Amino acid sequence: MSAPQREKWNSSLGFILAAAGSAIGLGNIWRFPYITGKNGGGSFVLLYLGIVLLVGLPIMYLELALGRSTGKGPVGAIASVAPKSLWKFLGYLAVITGIGILSFYGVVAGWTVYYFFKSFISGFTPGQSGNVFGSFVTSGSKQIIFMGIFMGLTTGVVVMGVKGGIEKLSTVLMPVLLVLMLGLIIYAMTLPKAMSGLKFYLVPTSAGFTKTTFIYALGQAFFSLSLGMGAMLTYGSYLQKKENILRAGLIVVIFDTAIALMAGFIIFPVLGGAPAAAGPGLVFVVITDLFSVLPGGRIIAMAFFAMLAIAALTSTISLLEVAASYLIDEHKMKRPAAALTVGAITFCVGIPSALSLGASKFLSNIGSFAGRSWGFLDIFDYVFGNLSLAIGGMLLVVFVLWKWKLQHAEEEIFANSKAGPWVKYVLRPLTIFVAPAAVALVIGFLLFTGKTLS
Ligand code: TRP
Repeated sequence: MSAPQREKWNSSLGFILAAAGSAIGLGNIWRFPYITGKNGGGSFVLLYLGIVLLVGLPIMYLELALGRSTGKGPVGAIASVAPKSLWKFLGYLAVITGIGILSFYGVVAGWTVYYFFKSFISGFTPGQSGNVFGSFVTSGSKQIIFMGIFMGLTTGVVVMGVKGGIEKLSTVLMPVLLVLMLGLIIYAMTLPKAMSGLKFYLVPTSAGFTKTTFIYALGQAFFSLSLGMGAMLTYGSYLQKKENILRAGLIVVIFDTAIALMAGFIIFPVLGGAPAAAGPGLVFVVITDLFSVLPGGRIIAMAFFAMLAIAALTSTISLLEVAASYLIDEHKMKRPAAALTVGAITFCVGIPSALSLGASKFLSNIGSFAGRSWGFLDIFDYVFGNLSLAIGGMLLVVFVLWKWKLQHAEEEIFANSKAGPWVKYVLRPLTIFVAPAAVALVIGFLLFTGKTLS
């Protein structure tokens, strides 16, 4: 009995833009500059680049290879390599992690839509950005509505399918994202404090650089490249056999990293140095406040939040697609029903996160641990956005090496590639030793310090 032909990406470029769209998100534009600011600027950037190549790239290859070889998402891929084994829980972990991340990521993604419309309708009053942000995030109804709008958009794209939805949208929006970013960079360079900002961003110093900086760079690389929960695996399962994974994976990694670096070229010239406020405040309060006093600031703010919203949407669709494809492949659901089911579940799971920024006292401060108070969103970020990605990534490497065998992964990665044998000999020790050791470090850090990586 032959299974019906699986839907495939139309073109190499379509795959690259979709996978880069998954990778490029709030992680690049909001989180990367903020983590860079907190960890020493230029030195962090250098370290990050090294980790992306030595740890991120090999794991990216394993996910794409396992996905394409089996033609399945995480649950199906594991079942085809190791049927009826306990490894199947790794597949379920991936599906659950996707829903877990999407549930809180969707809340922040909703902010980008609100801020876009607010820039359009009224603009921002200088000095008021902190108050605007405060009253917005503590309004339960607004948080739920904008999160719902974003989930709705995400679900709509996934309903339309791999080619007709995800690939088409990414092919249109990724170039728009690039143009918006380039425009914003040029604008940022004309600002009076641009040079001092760039100096902080680009000149390596030892300030803010500690032992944990290494861990932060690793966590950031994982999240930014969408690794550890089968998103790249699932996108790999829609890759045609004739595509060259070695090349496509490298382009996606370079693209993602370039966009993160470019985001720094917007944020730091605008700030003029190290960010004073950390976390959500950086983009939604500090940057908004600066835009409100700059010439043409309202248009610039619209462009900036449109850019964030686009980046977020091409990421949320990849998070939803993992669970949707699970229902389609393993439970024989029709795509629209599967996408709507996952969208509805994620919306419900997201409600407590939406209410945990002040709307509900209880959800905003569930308890104190490791020297800070934790709201519902913080807990979900810790469990799904940090810990289970690292555990998932680690187990995936073990699964590939032990069950699937490196040789099969290499055949898939190097198929259609003309790379010399030395590439294999460089990649192999990274895959076997460096990547798992690095990820094990992250898991240890998360479990023993109780700190998050954001
Ligand atoms: N990489 C995206 C970002 O940088 C977020 C994301 C999308 C993600 N899919 C993922 C993170 C899968 C981890 C796993 O914003």
